[in-house]
Amino acid sequence: MKTILAKQRKILNSLNIIETEYSPLFSQLVNFSQAKTEPVHSWFRYREGFSPSLVKYFIDNHDEWILDPFCGSGTTLVTSLQMKKNSVGFDINPFSTFLAKIKTTKYTEQDLKKIQQSIELIFNNHHKNPVSIPRLKIIDKAFHPMILEHMLKLREEINMFDGHIRGFLFFGWLSILERVSNTKKEGNGIKYRSTVRTKQGYVHIKDEDWQRNYFGPNKIDFINQELKNQYKKMISDISSVNYESNPATSSVFTKNNEDFSQLIPNKISKVIFSPPYANSFDYFEIFKLELWMGRFIENYAQLRELRKQAIGSLWTADSAKCDMQEINQILDLMNANELWSPKIRTMILSYFSKMKNILQESYSVLLEGGKCVIVVGNSAYANVIIPTDLIISNIARDLGYKKIKILIARYSTTSSQQKKNLAPLKEFLRESVIVLEK
Ligand SMILES: C[S@@+](CC[C@H](N)C(=O)[O-])C[C@H]1O[C@@H](n2cnc3c(N)ncnc32)[C@H](O)[C@@H]1O
Repeated sequence: MKTILAKQRKILNSLNIIETEYSPLFSQLVNFSQAKTEPVHSWFRYREGFSPSLVKYFIDNHDEWILDPFCGSGTTLVTSLQMKKNSVGFDINPFSTFLAKIKTTKYTEQDLKKIQQSIELIFNNHHKNPVSIPRLKIIDKAFHPMILEHMLKLREEINMFDGHIRGFLFFGWLSILERVSNTKKEGNGIKYRSTVRTKQGYVHIKDEDWQRNYFGPNKIDFINQELKNQYKKMISDISSVNYESNPATSSVFTKNNEDFSQLIPNKISKVIFSPPYANSFDYFEIFKLELWMGRFIENYAQLRELRKQAIGSLWTADSAKCDMQEINQILDLMNANELWSPKIRTMILSYFSKMKNILQESYSVLLEGGKCVIVVGNSAYANVIIPTDLIISNIARDLGYKKIKILIARYSTTSSQQKKNLAPLKEFLRESVIVLEK
């Protein structure tokens, strides 16, 4: 272990030539917690998002165009719109871009009236035709049969509308899916409500017991109430943000961000984003209920195609190369027997070669003096740290960015055993905001 630590220290030192500052101000801004109480941002709890205040912090008065190549639920785009700035976003996940699109739609007073009428209709109409059940393998485990049927009938009612009225109604429906399901998002995936973590470990609660407590006496009333509350909140937020007279535009593309520079104006003054971290997190797994129930995905072949394009996930693992010597040195330190998947090395190589491409693309659309702001976390595999913030900053320097600075938002944790082993290098286990200037 000692020699590995010494070798790591040497590599980290050779990369550590970037100006770095501990900035605890950002510790709450690199996650989504603050957005949970903000109008519009709070419509869907996108845990992997960052906070609107982070975006506000970096947007200046003279900015006109903002870009987020990993827009997720649209925090950058919504904040830009609220600050009357034009914005463009990309994401491969069609569910995420749907969220971003609806959250940046400029609903008018007239739309709100129509929405209110349509809400009454969807609750009063009783859909009679049989509904088609998504082919997601865990669908029966994820929903009580009565809830599944009612949700799918509501979806059919919502589908009777079109345009952004349907978009609004469908958004509300998607945002209550997790709450009305037998699952909750936790860690890297979804867990069942019947399994509860206690001090003594996980315990299993019988479905009828937790469901009685959670849903109350009537499951259909529970769903309808959740949905009505969600719509009420969304309507009240739309009235408060008043986008109607706001001249700014927002465009969202459902597409991977490989070659975005051809699609957008090259007068961007801020690129603000948080890519997936190099930690194998699967955005298609965490949103699988929303993706399948919302018919964004209808079969496993489609899912595989989307997963392949995702950065930082093991599904991407194509034969990637990376010409940066330090990355290869870091990978050489990893003991293959200690890695929980043989695809981890390729994932990491592919991660940095794609990040290089994004930095290049961003450079080409940025105005002189424009900035690229990147929220990223370092990771660790088999007791070897992947110093993503340092690697990205070094790649950016080689691409011609100047004034590069790493603002350390918080020191993060890894599994307790790794934490112990990596204690001498713990300053590199962190989440940071990288600021690059063209
Ligand atoms: C950390 S999340 C972004 C969250 C966003 N900042 C927010 O506040 O909602 C990273 C996003 O990158 C997307 N992503 C992963 N690979 C991508 C690719 N190749 N092209 C575009 N988006 C990608 C994922 O779908 C995910 O939504």
